Formats: sequence, C-alpha cells, structure tokens
Amino acid sequence: MDQITVFSPASVANVGCGYDTFGFAIEGIGDFITICKRSDDQLVIEQSKGAILPNNPKENVASIAVESYLKHINSNAGFSFTITKSFKPGSGLGSSASSAAGAVFGVNHLMGNPLSTRDLLPFVMEGEAFASKSYHADNVAPALMGGFNVVRSYEPLDIFQVPTPNDLRVLIIFPDVEVKTSEAKALLPKTLSIPDARNQWANVAGVISALYSSDYNLLKKSVSDVIAEPVRKKLIPGYEEVKRMMCEHGSVGFNISGSGPSMFSFFRNEQEMESVKPKVQALYQKLGHELMLHTSKINHHGSIIIS
Ligand code: HSE
Repeated sequence: MDQITVFSPASVANVGCGYDTFGFAIEGIGDFITICKRSDDQLVIEQSKGAILPNNPKENVASIAVESYLKHINSNAGFSFTITKSFKPGSGLGSSASSAAGAVFGVNHLMGNPLSTRDLLPFVMEGEAFASKSYHADNVAPALMGGFNVVRSYEPLDIFQVPTPNDLRVLIIFPDVEVKTSEAKALLPKTLSIPDARNQWANVAGVISALYSSDYNLLKKSVSDVIAEPVRKKLIPGYEEVKRMMCEHGSVGFNISGSGPSMFSFFRNEQEMESVKPKVQALYQKLGHELMLHTSKINHHGSIIIS
C-alpha cells in the first residue's frame, strides 16, 4: 500500500475546568489527509485546501510530527501530504492537533503499524508544540484516539479515557475571529490562590463524576473555569450574551473551547439545542461576525482511515 487517506477530527480542549487536561473529539469536522509514499526520503506538503498552511515541511505541523515519528522508528522513508481542512487554524478546535495526528496515524499505517495508536502521541505532540509553543496533549489525544481524555500526567505522559453519556450532544459556536493559542496561553495567571485551585479541582472531580453517572445537573455546575475563562473571554466577541442564551435554553455545560474563540455547549435535549441556534446567528449578525455552528455527538473513533 502506497497511498492512504485519513480523517482526523476536531476536538474541544479544557472543557471548562480541565485546562491542558481534558479534551474530547467531535464528529463531522476535521482534516482529511492524503498521504503518498515517495521513492526518495523527502517529506513534502503537496497541497493544502480549506486553509493556508505552511508548505515548508520544517514549518508544517503534519510533517514536523511525522519527522519525529520517522526518526524514532529509524526510517528514512519519504511521504507527500495533501491536507484538506474543514475548519480554520486559530479556531480553538485543535486544528494543529488534527493535522499532526492524522499525518502520523496515516504514515504509521503505511509503515505497517510498527507502533500502536496510543504510542504515536509523543510524536503528534511535537507538531502541536511547534504550533502553540507548548507541549499539551488535550487536543492531540482526542484527535488521535477519540473519546473524552484526561491527561493525568505530562512527565511521564499518562492519559486515560472517561465514558460519556450516549445522549450527550455538543453545539460548537465559532465566531470568525482568530485567537492564537500561544497568545491566549500568555494571558493566563502565573500563580493561583488556594481558593481558586480548590474550586477548580472540585469542578474537575464534578465533571468526571457527572460523565460517569450521566448527572447533567452536576455537569452543568462543574463545567466552569476560574483560571482561563476570566482572561480569555475578552478575546471572544459576544461571549457573555452567548453564555446567557445557552443557560436560558437548557445547556448542560458551556465554556470556551480550547483557547477560543470557539465555544462549546453541552445539551441533552436536541430540540433545545436547535432552538438556540437562530438566536446565536442573530447575535453575530448584529455584531458583524461570520459564524459557524456545528452540532455533534462525542466522537469515539479519533483518526480513521477513509481509503
Ligand atoms: N489547553 C490548551 C489551552 C488548548 O487552553 O491553551 C489549546 O488549544
């Protein structure tokens, strides 16, 4: 086999209280990556569609991640990549993680799967680190493996997955402004007070317990954030209005997706989720911003082979 096409999903990181720790994959948006084996040892970004991405393989997260993977398995194989994105970089939906995860997943397959999918994580993180100037796995893990992931430790890397209720739905709200993860990270406080830390870790326990027990009341209360949301929400036009609308329309958990500007809102009831969409559309029309709304269930597959 010399050619493969992979789909690697978008993802929601942080999920309120789980900064750099929680992340889940969504369905329907992500990267399609076609990878061809080359007869030389080059990594080539053949084409990018749907977004302008760096052609230089030393600056593209997909080839950077693949290079570190090939070095690890001691291979000098070469590959060409065509990356088609269905969402934009800088949207807070794990764009660089989708590209890096899909590329490494596909190349591992073309190489005969010498590593398990989970063992690909450190190489995918190399791509993410280049893009956001920080090693974080909360988008990378769901883009690769799907599901709701908890990064229990970075050194050593230790990630576990948590089951999610079958009827849990998520509405993604993406107002078209760009927020760079590196800049959003720089806004965060350097220290935390004990009362803030106490709130945050109590809510982390609340989210995990709620997901196990399908307790939507607890989920709604626990999806909150005293660390990143207060400083990052200022970068997101209409944030407080959207939050209020979600609360009034039955959302069971709302916050910033990753470093924003996308927001996510959990719903149990599909009608309630549908009923809020026109209101959000009207708000952003008034604010003069393009808007993408996307509804999804939790994606449990992560990166998959399409053909
Ligand atoms: N956990 C990261 C952050 C996600 O909040 O900066 C970035 O996509």
